[in-house]
Amino acid sequence: EFGVSELWDPVVRRDPHRFYDRVRATGRPVLQIDPAGNRFWVIAGHADVLEGLRHPAIGHEVHRRCPGGRQPARHELSEVARIEARQLISLDPPDHTRLRGLVSGGFTARAVARLEPWISQLADRLVARARQQGRIDGIADLADPVPVNVIAELVGIPEPDRPQFRAWSAAIVSASIDSSAATLAFAAYLDELAARRRAVPADDLISQLVAHEEQGDRLDRDELVALVQLLLIAGQETTVDLISNGIRLLLTHPDQWQALRDDPLLAAAVVEETLRFRGPVEIVPPRFSLEDVEIAGGRIPAFDRVGLSLWGANRDPTVFDRPHVFDIHRTDVRKHIAFGHGIHFCLGAHLARLESRIMFERIAQQLPNLRLAVEPDVLDGFRLHHDGLPLEV
Ligand code: HEM
Repeated sequence: EFGVSELWDPVVRRDPHRFYDRVRATGRPVLQIDPAGNRFWVIAGHADVLEGLRHPAIGHEVHRRCPGGRQPARHELSEVARIEARQLISLDPPDHTRLRGLVSGGFTARAVARLEPWISQLADRLVARARQQGRIDGIADLADPVPVNVIAELVGIPEPDRPQFRAWSAAIVSASIDSSAATLAFAAYLDELAARRRAVPADDLISQLVAHEEQGDRLDRDELVALVQLLLIAGQETTVDLISNGIRLLLTHPDQWQALRDDPLLAAAVVEETLRFRGPVEIVPPRFSLEDVEIAGGRIPAFDRVGLSLWGANRDPTVFDRPHVFDIHRTDVRKHIAFGHGIHFCLGAHLARLESRIMFERIAQQLPNLRLAVEPDVLDGFRLHHDGLPLEV
């Protein structure tokens, strides 16, 4: 009863939840054909997605297993391809384990909590500027500046270099033709910054990474560049999406917006329910079945693509009461898996939670008259809001 490429059908795109409800109800993986003609198995139940995220035979490095598959040697790759091939998010153990171990210390709840005063000041500045304008764009004026500035602070980009860093970041994230040129320019800049930190260490992520490199912990230059680049790719649009969707959901649910204004401590609950109800990641970056696998009530043959749907899992009625209702007071929200699960669990989860919690707090306290400047139905649908979120202050 499924069309072969329904997942990509424009009608399904407008409301993918109906599709995931149907997939989940089958109790097994559903085969689709992706736009490039590949076999792509969709899994949408909460327990089944968790099983997929934990499964050792569902992974990324298919070229290691696939007969005839071959990993190009490093010298055969361009610099950009070489850097991309070293990204944490697309590696399996043991390389993934080694790299993640080297960087995870910079992203613990404690390490990230040190940034709270700095993020609060940034939020205050953004909100104060918005108050002076009658009409703002929730993306450009509130959400967009937050993650890139926080990543710059965390990594240790010196103040005078930040406008250039933001420009590279925008180009890298855009995935346009400019993005390779930006990656190269940014890599050259990082070489120089790393050299400065090697000479005089500072209290920042670059200095920590350089120290690993020096202690012979096998973090090489491409891996260092790949990591900082991945922070931008994984941390920018996702966080912008969370903040802007949270604002939109609050303003279209007036009782909950009122509850937050009455008690700004509810900001943390707004973060979690926005992540569950409309998380920034619909399907985790596709994996492959590395061999024939029995999984999620079905069987997936070797070397097919596997699409684990976080949107499907986060609306599973066996886990969440009234899953299609946005409710910041729900008690089951913590079971959501909007940051993934298992070895690739989001490295930036504490950071994203902190940034968005502070923004929702400040907005509730200092922009109490905020409202949508455009009828909600125009803003409905599930695209990222890159075309703007017009607001009246
Ligand atoms: C991985 C979601 C913000 C850095 C992931 C994954 C998800 C996710 C679902 C798992 C991907 C997979 O299993 O293949 C989100 C959401 C965010 C967010 C919803 C914001 C609301 C951030 C931020 C950073 C970040 C702010 C860093 C500054 C990463 C990295 C990985 C990752 C490095 C790869 C981890 C690994 O492969 O071990 N994220 N992310 N993310 N995220 Fe986030």
